[in-house]
Amino acid sequence: MIETDSDSGIAPSPMQTRFNIQLMTWSDALPLARAVREQVFIVEQGVPRELEWDDWDERSDHAIALDAGSKAIGTARLLPGGRIGRMAVLAHWRRRGVGAALLNALLRLAREKGMPEVLLHAQTHAAGFYRRFGFSPRGDEFIEAGISHQEMSLTLTRAPEQ
Ligand SMILES: CC(C)(COP(=O)(O)OP(=O)(O)OC[C@H]1O[C@@H](n2cnc3c(N)ncnc32)[C@H](O)[C@@H]1OP(=O)(O)O)[C@@H](O)C(=O)NCCC(=O)NCCS
Repeated sequence: MIETDSDSGIAPSPMQTRFNIQLMTWSDALPLARAVREQVFIVEQGVPRELEWDDWDERSDHAIALDAGSKAIGTARLLPGGRIGRMAVLAHWRRRGVGAALLNALLRLAREKGMPEVLLHAQTHAAGFYRRFGFSPRGDEFIEAGISHQEMSLTLTRAPEQ
């Protein structure tokens, strides 16, 4: 299996586009999610470090995308109340289905937990990404961590019995 250098900023070749999604508690996710969130939110988007890390990580379920070399390339979390957040994919892995796979994993988990609805604060530029999954905007745009956001929600139906 070819190893991908996720931190190099070099786009993966077609041979290097394999990835998988794993659900983890924070103790396992921390070393993997930290590097991705540092890069995407703090370095790329300029989110203040003290706003990036909060107590919700401990209480959330985390979806981590790993490349063929088991390096983290994407992350997202599901809070106990049904809020999805901290969705981030390394820049050179975007538009390859990683974000969709992370979101689908958390939506599946939310259904399994019997959550009637999930909601999130979408960065306005990413609202179109969430709309593809059926999320609808709710209320007006607002600023959070210096970035324009839109609250969006999705009503969940129960997963069909297997
Ligand atoms: C938003 C983000 C997570 C999307 O991840 P991604 O891996 O590029 O998304 P995918 O490749 O799985 O895209 C799934 C679909 O959504 C579309 N899409 C991706 N980003 C989009 C965007 N910003 N706006 C509209 N559509 C988008 C893709 O074209 C794809 O459509 P298709 O199924 O018709 O091909 C990623 O761009 C990212 O990490 N951005 C920086 C951090 C950020 O802004 N996070 C969101 C916080 S709310």
